[in-house]
Amino acid sequence: MVYVTKRLTFSASHRLHNPKFSDEWNKEVFDKCNNPNGHGHNYVLEVTIAGEPNPDTGYVIDLKILKKIVENIIIDKVDHKHFNTDVDFMINIIPSVENIAIAFWKELEDKIPNGKLYKIKIWETENSYVEYFGN
Ligand code: NI
Repeated sequence: MVYVTKRLTFSASHRLHNPKFSDEWNKEVFDKCNNPNGHGHNYVLEVTIAGEPNPDTGYVIDLKILKKIVENIIIDKVDHKHFNTDVDFMINIIPSVENIAIAFWKELEDKIPNGKLYKIKIWETENSYVEYFGN
């Protein structure tokens, strides 16, 4: 098994807020991330595919094709957007980077033509990232 990864970047804004709770609770829990009009991040997304190299090409998946798929399914929908209001597959989901990773997985999982989606990794800042392996 070989693991191949494509890295893509996007910029987006979000607001961490749980409408089930009071404004005070949200301010206490999410602090600056609860800012009413949101705030932005320059995210780095890494999509890892696992598989056997095709004997004819040597590729697990052609990285040009993987890049196009991730651009079409994810990047075009989130880049320069607000997760809380602009992204159809994030409506009613608190857009923590954890939940973003899970949502991206669901969007991509059955769209990979060769190999299998193995990992979604998202850097939200230079010093923090989450990884999701589908369960
Ligand atoms: Ni944030």
